[in-house]
Amino acid sequence: MPHNSDSPQKDFRHVIGHEQAKRALEIAAAGEHNVLMSGPPGCGKSMLAETFPSILPVLTNQAQLEVMSLYQLAGESRSLHQTAPYRHPHHSASSVAIIGGGSSPRPGEISLAHHGVLFLDEIAEFTKKTLDMLRQPLETGQVTISRAHSTVTYPSSFILIGAMNPCPCGFLGSNDHYCTCLQKQIQNYQNRLSGPVYDRIDILLSLKSVNLDQTIKTQESSIDIRKRVENARQRQYQRYQTEITNAKAPFDVITETSPLATEQQKMLTNVAAKQNWSNRVQIKIIRLARTIADLAGDEKISDTALWEAMTLRRRGLHKQQVIARETQ
Ligand SMILES: Nc1ncnc2c1ncn2[C@@H]1O[C@H](COP(=O)(O)OP(=O)(O)OP(=O)(O)O)[C@@H](O)[C@H]1O
Ligand SMILES: [Mg+2]
Repeated sequence: MPHNSDSPQKDFRHVIGHEQAKRALEIAAAGEHNVLMSGPPGCGKSMLAETFPSILPVLTNQAQLEVMSLYQLAGESRSLHQTAPYRHPHHSASSVAIIGGGSSPRPGEISLAHHGVLFLDEIAEFTKKTLDMLRQPLETGQVTISRAHSTVTYPSSFILIGAMNPCPCGFLGSNDHYCTCLQKQIQNYQNRLSGPVYDRIDILLSLKSVNLDQTIKTQESSIDIRKRVENARQRQYQRYQTEITNAKAPFDVITETSPLATEQQKMLTNVAAKQNWSNRVQIKIIRLARTIADLAGDEKISDTALWEAMTLRRRGLHKQQVIARETQ
């Protein structure tokens, strides 16, 4: 059964520690980048995903209307309101429920998440078929469903947040638990997310459990983070002269408006060769770097922004995943 809500607003004030994750989610919200979180059970993956909508800008009137129309087509109620949709289908949901379709076609979860967030918890448990069907919408922001006598296209431009354990027992890379999985089991588990889907993720986050006693310092609230996200969005809208973000803007427009310096391009090419990054991943890194520069209020992509963007694409589990793929 898909479980969904227009999430009750949680606040980053209540998330202890996880500073890197909060920074990454701020970047994701600012530029509409997809995120995959991996970490042991109970480390806070679901909590971070549920809190994410609280830092998203409110929807424009036009976006609110589009979202409401999609809900109506799906036979679900949603009043006209400014909060971005947050959809959280269970991994047991059918591919039709998630992608859309059926004998009289209806929008699926990916369209109900239009202008908002699609959270796939335990993403490795979704069927390969469903995950592979996400490829087109993740690329184009819309989904085309072909029936015998008709074809329908629904908008489905969302931020994907995926969460998974790093291995079947959940403790690979943990400092306080021993992982009991065999290498083969780890490889099989991690490879459930196929290369092409994995390629469409911008930010890879590897989380560890946080000591909940440790932090007395006040955590920053979602409202403060959202202000920075809104400022970064404004910079993007001004640059592209339309309400489009760095993750969705045509790549040639990004390279025209924010070309990398020769040295920066060289640095990216070198790291990409070592990390085995596809062209798609390299483009994603430039988009991420653009967002980081927008959050900093910089006209050009700085070296620091490019470096941080590259760091966001290579963390913990994912290194293991690349190794697993290479040894196949
Ligand atoms: N850093 C944290 N700050 C505040 N609460 C936390 C933190 N980490 C975990 N928790 C609390 O621990 C509980 C478990 O967290 P959560 O469900 O997000 O873990 P998870 O990583 O999704 O685990 P699983 O892999 O089992 O799904 C939540 O109720 C959350 O309130
Ligand atoms: Mg969880």
